[in-house]
Amino acid sequence: MHKKTIPYFILLSLFVMLSCTSEKQDSSTGVMDRFIDDLMNQMTLEEKIGQLTLYTSDMDHTGPFIRDHYLEDIRAGRVGAIFNAYTADYTRELQRMAVEETRLGIPLLFGYDVIHGHRTIFPIPLGETASWDMEAIEESARIAAREATAEGLHWTFSPMVDVTRDPRWGRIAESSGEDPFLTAQVARAKVRGYQGDDLRDLHTMLATAKHFAAYGAPQAGRDYHTVDMSELVLRNKFLPPFKAIIEEDIATFMTAFNDLFGVPATGSEYLLTQVLREEWGFEGFVVTDYTSINEMVPHGFARDDKHAGELAINAGVDMDMQGAVYNDYLAELVEEGKVSEATIDQAVRRILLMKYKLGLFEDPYRYSDPQREAELVMTEENLEFARDFSRKSIVLLKNDDNVLPLSDDVRSIALIGPMADNQRDLIGSWSAAGDYTKSVTLRQGIINRQGERTRINYALGTTVLDEDRSGFAAALRAAAQSDVVIMALGEHYWQSGEAASRSMIDLPGLQEELFDEIVKLGKPVIVVLMKGRPLTLENLDEKASAILETWFLGTTTGDAIADVLFGDYNPSGKLPVTYPRNVGQIPIFYNARNTGRPKSEGKFTSKYLDVSNSPLYPFGYGLSYTTFDYSDIRLSTTQMPINGTLEASVTVTNTGDRFGEEVVQLYTRQLVGSITRPLMELRGFEKITLDPGESREVTFELTWKDLAFYNANNQFRAEPGEFHLFIGTSSAEVKQTAFSLME
Ligand code: NOJ
Repeated sequence: MHKKTIPYFILLSLFVMLSCTSEKQDSSTGVMDRFIDDLMNQMTLEEKIGQLTLYTSDMDHTGPFIRDHYLEDIRAGRVGAIFNAYTADYTRELQRMAVEETRLGIPLLFGYDVIHGHRTIFPIPLGETASWDMEAIEESARIAAREATAEGLHWTFSPMVDVTRDPRWGRIAESSGEDPFLTAQVARAKVRGYQGDDLRDLHTMLATAKHFAAYGAPQAGRDYHTVDMSELVLRNKFLPPFKAIIEEDIATFMTAFNDLFGVPATGSEYLLTQVLREEWGFEGFVVTDYTSINEMVPHGFARDDKHAGELAINAGVDMDMQGAVYNDYLAELVEEGKVSEATIDQAVRRILLMKYKLGLFEDPYRYSDPQREAELVMTEENLEFARDFSRKSIVLLKNDDNVLPLSDDVRSIALIGPMADNQRDLIGSWSAAGDYTKSVTLRQGIINRQGERTRINYALGTTVLDEDRSGFAAALRAAAQSDVVIMALGEHYWQSGEAASRSMIDLPGLQEELFDEIVKLGKPVIVVLMKGRPLTLENLDEKASAILETWFLGTTTGDAIADVLFGDYNPSGKLPVTYPRNVGQIPIFYNARNTGRPKSEGKFTSKYLDVSNSPLYPFGYGLSYTTFDYSDIRLSTTQMPINGTLEASVTVTNTGDRFGEEVVQLYTRQLVGSITRPLMELRGFEKITLDPGESREVTFELTWKDLAFYNANNQFRAEPGEFHLFIGTSSAEVKQTAFSLME
């Protein structure tokens, strides 16, 4: 037992008196630093190491093992932060243990995977990205933070900014897809939403950039697998979103499970110190992923846990998530001279500063407020927003003969498939404290919209996971009796997310067989897809009349889809990821580089013998119930000075008879570079609204930074030369022009 010294709150009052400030914690840097200095002067090495430790509570499971003695650890001051614990009451109780039962009473930090909403669940990240609506994404993060902080949370392990080009990888669901620019914009919006302008604000929380780095590129799409890529690809394609959110003052970074260049990310001095701190100037703290320090042993990089701890802290890891390695070995490592006390102090300071900024030294219980919890969680307003955000995330992939939207007067609908009357899957993976029993099924959504007007002939047909044909006959009967068929098909919620890679990405179970049977009846078949990743959909694309990609939309799924089915909302989502025709095309992504033998006539060109090079649906693709016409591109100059700007404009006209939204996308291509350059790169986009017949001019302004890339010497430079510039409705349907970048 340590001797009691001055608890932090007395210390704080002393500071308040000395600096003659209000009762509130003074957040001016000088006062804050002095406060932290004084606190650290009182701390023993063990207490400091405790601050570098994050353990899970047993309230939720997000990794392989739980410590059954985390409560003892809190009481003993061996823990600085807890995750997987929420609700005002529970966090208050754990906080009480830390504040009242430890020598210095330093408050705990509570973290959680608030990924796409806390209680009100929004579309999975891949889906929300499909909205290309940065304001809505920011607002969704703001609402998530408001709900989460009312339940005692201070810190979300979001956004995941791992670029990925592999739909086999289950965590694609939690990503923003394949493009670094789009991923960066989404990430910035989310950080702004979570962190707001002031961390002391009771409704804001710390955000986390994860997983640093390149976790989205595991070999063969298998989760946690080795990552190998050139530094050029790393810097140009995988790191930009991480760099971008440092500009939003993101508070924390999480390391990745994978290795990169043969070094596990959690022990990578290159990533955690050289790039993150020295090049980018990150000032927050770095946490590991779940036991990823310990995992450096099976990786074959550390001899044992102790060695792994030494490698991690010296590489730049501040906080150990769940591994207990810092608690078990750091003191010994300091004694042996393998880790300096200065290194430990630096990590402790970074963590205490965040606690200070959150106002926890002023009142450790300020976020755990049952009354705010009751008032702020899952409000009508939040649900209304969720419905609108969800419908913005839907992508219309096909719509033959304008079968959609359905008429209000449709007499009968056969509603078939395992996702049609399903609540569990709708909130997807990483659904935090979401309660699936509150989610609106598609069936309910259609009933809410149509009431008695339309007869719904519902049939399950088959399930997602079983090879079960016993429901086929009833489904066929339902289809035969109805004017139109809606088939709701997809994946089980745990078939995407962490540790949920698939080698084949077709519709699981017998869903496709059921679809084939139903289609034979010759009725219009509208497919509504619910899932966490692109699937191989060639057969569906060929035979369905219409296809809606709805991902997992969250709590208000059914109402949002009904809005689109009946035309109350005109779909405006665009794919943030390329859909392959078959698994063999993977990885397939729009911003690839050319080959020396681009596909053309003749044998000796870069192609497959059994499938085309083109994807089924390209990046940026998505239809609308109206049509848009693009004018030719107008440039402010065709000779852009390297220190000047270039304006590129188009006029977009709504040529249909409905109000609609369009995502206008700008891409560039540098024709010749000091290293080979991608065929296209997204450099800008704008989501606009247009009434029928209305035209709007959209102008993008480019500077050299929009044309720059990391060259072979790791320098971020724009190279003078010839460029193509494209503006259009998807990466595959664009207007094109050219300009030169001048010295
Ligand atoms: C493992 C996941 O990779 C990470 O993203 C998550 O934040 C942690 N577990 C905590 O649940």
